Amino acid sequence: MLGINSIKPAPALAVCFGLIFQASLVSGEPYADFNNGAVTNYVKWLDTGGKPINAHDGGIIYANGKYHWYGMALRPLPVANSTNGGQKTVMGVVMYSSSDLYNWTDEGVILACSTNPASPLYGPMRFERPKIIHNPATKKYVMWCHYVGTPGNHGTRIGLGDAGVASCDTVNGQYTFLGYHRPIDTNSIVRDCTLFQDDDGSAYFIYDRDVRVPGPDFGRVLHVVKLTDDYLAATGTFYKITNASAREAPVMLKRNGFYYLITSGETGWKFNRANYYRATNIFGPYTEVGDPCVGPDTGATFDSQGTQAFAIQGKKDAFIFVAERHNTACMTDSSYIFLPVRFPSPDTLELQYFERWDLNHWPAAGASRQ
Ligand code: GAL
Repeated sequence: MLGINSIKPAPALAVCFGLIFQASLVSGEPYADFNNGAVTNYVKWLDTGGKPINAHDGGIIYANGKYHWYGMALRPLPVANSTNGGQKTVMGVVMYSSSDLYNWTDEGVILACSTNPASPLYGPMRFERPKIIHNPATKKYVMWCHYVGTPGNHGTRIGLGDAGVASCDTVNGQYTFLGYHRPIDTNSIVRDCTLFQDDDGSAYFIYDRDVRVPGPDFGRVLHVVKLTDDYLAATGTFYKITNASAREAPVMLKRNGFYYLITSGETGWKFNRANYYRATNIFGPYTEVGDPCVGPDTGATFDSQGTQAFAIQGKKDAFIFVAERHNTACMTDSSYIFLPVRFPSPDTLELQYFERWDLNHWPAAGASRQ
């Protein structure tokens, strides 16, 4: 069991002060499944030390025989006794590791906020939607995120909506912040983003490009930007997914020769309907396929917003869709959703909600369940 409490938190302040959730694993039993809870629940997922997993809107990378789950730390709250109605950090990006995907050990902070007001990492700030990939040529782990400098409020000026880049020699070491910038042009504010690494080693920054200057590019549209060979910078080669306007929370995966891009609508932290696109070339064109969610409780992505999809080691076509159930009453009580990605036909995918499930969802070896 991953997560032990499934009470819908009603009194926000009580939740923020941790009065509702149990604080330790039941009898020290290791977890053996994913506990998403009902779509109305915010289930607290705990690490092996009994503390809530604190890695928000991040992702999972497999390295050195273990999965590593990273994200922006929302605890401790930037302001004491605040419900943190937005999402900011005074800690940075944190990481957990696991060999089974159920039990996660705290690896600590991998990219720390600074207490020096002159630092670009001075908190409270945001590393929204951080993503990490490994460059096989340079052997570096490279992180990109939506960087929002202190005070951590989204804005149009440079430093409040940019691409932040960091790198490290080891997956769980201290990442060096390499700076922030705006790919494509300085008028293009960076919003939600992700990274995608293709089979040939090329990598891409996929982001919601927000152009406020009147002209043909005005508006918010998802773009795919090719990265340099070392993954540390954007090249001038990019593709505008013109039919993905007003979409965000991009999640990309590749299966059977198709690039799938799962997105949300733009309603801030409020849940909305997902849709997904499909292409045979990363630079498009992308066909809008529709809502990937099936079964009961669709219409608002099962009350969540996607953050990443990652492949399970040793299983064919087995991906987990990671989403966050943002809790606007108290962001530190947002919960995580893991769902299996299903492929009902050679060129479609779907997401079905399971309150609880485990990796036996896929056969032990061979083709994935269709
Ligand atoms: C959401 C977006 C989040 C965050 C939030 C801020 O729409 O997906 O990543 O930027 O807005 O309001």
